[in-house]
Amino acid sequence: MSNSDVCKVKIVGATGYTGGELIRLLLNHPKVKIVSLTAAGFDNPQPAHAFWPWLRQVIDLPIRPEIDGEADGADTIFLSVPHGAAMKLAPLYYEKGLRVIDLSADYRFPDLSERQGWYEGEHTSPELCGVAVYGMPELFREQIKHARLIANPGCYPTAAILSLYPGIKLGFFEPERIRVNSVSGVTGAGRNPKLPFHHPEFDQNFFAYRIGKHQHAPEIVSVLRRVTGKPVTVTFVPHVLPLQRGILSTIYCRKAKDVPLAEIWNAYQETYAREPFIRLYPLGEAPALQAVRETNFLDISLHEDAMTGDVVLVSAEDNLTKGAAGQAVQNLNVIMGFPEKMGLLPL
Ligand SMILES: NC(=O)c1ccc[n+]([C@@H]2O[C@H](COP(=O)([O-])OP(=O)(O)OC[C@H]3O[C@@H](n4cnc5c(N)ncnc54)[C@H](OP(=O)(O)O)[C@@H]3O)[C@@H](O)[C@H]2O)c1
Repeated sequence: MSNSDVCKVKIVGATGYTGGELIRLLLNHPKVKIVSLTAAGFDNPQPAHAFWPWLRQVIDLPIRPEIDGEADGADTIFLSVPHGAAMKLAPLYYEKGLRVIDLSADYRFPDLSERQGWYEGEHTSPELCGVAVYGMPELFREQIKHARLIANPGCYPTAAILSLYPGIKLGFFEPERIRVNSVSGVTGAGRNPKLPFHHPEFDQNFFAYRIGKHQHAPEIVSVLRRVTGKPVTVTFVPHVLPLQRGILSTIYCRKAKDVPLAEIWNAYQETYAREPFIRLYPLGEAPALQAVRETNFLDISLHEDAMTGDVVLVSAEDNLTKGAAGQAVQNLNVIMGFPEKMGLLPL
């Protein structure tokens, strides 16, 4: 298969939120043809607009019950399914020589001991954990170019890792006991109804959850340790608020050396100058969710606390785009040698 060909794509989990976002993005991608859409919770094919009303008269393809490992003519499989389900499907497609981009957490830890205690159950395809490449182009672009199994990053880790990476790597921040507070829109919880997100319960509400024990904490630490070589630890507290989409993170770091904030900002600017989807804000400005909604951007700002001298980072992303489906398409572009912005920005 030549890397300049049009990609034939199957989306497994097409009735879920990240699957729906993949459909939205890939329908507008000039080098992609969606050839198959599947999900799990029904017995007969359904029109796509039964799940996504905006697809009426836009797409003829039905959403069918998934037949595990059936490629349906695709060369690339996006797995938009819960963790645990992905590790059963990925090997079936991978062994057929197909590209697999997994949006779940199943292949994000090359060292399985790092997921122990954070995810339930034994891993059923541990042999692929060492093969998968963590799909964060800003940090692993060269490896992604040659990958056939991508572990697409988590939504919260995308923001935390990319916000912290230059500051830790270049020795500006103490790597231990970093505080990460993140606030997410409710699509982060998936499309299956849950009582706390029922409208009368959730409207006008706002709360923290899995405080100090969210499964994205070890992912943040694992990747940052690998790319910086520093003994990173974080206290991570996620929150959810009644917005559809978006994650705003506020991150608190102690300086490891007495340098002006402008010097740290310059280092960030240099690190990310050529990254198409990272926008560093000028000192004194901070991002907000409206600026990133339905985009693949991660917006970052740096601040200094006037009392302690600590550095405060603020970052904004769309959990379904840069935090999931957009980053997955960015990974596809890197693998295929397409322009990295293709299908993700008006060109
Ligand atoms: N939502 C986010 O912001 C976000 C961000 C980053 C990563 N992720 C990850 O992306 C994955 C999907 O998340 P989501 O929010 O899109 O979840 P979701 O809205 O709950 O959708 C999950 C989809 O997977 C399907 N599915 C479940 N088990 C399956 C199986 N065995 N075979 C085929 N299809 C199956 C579901 O179909 P039925 O409903 O018909 O069973 C549904 O279409 C998860 O692993 C999640 O952690 C999500």
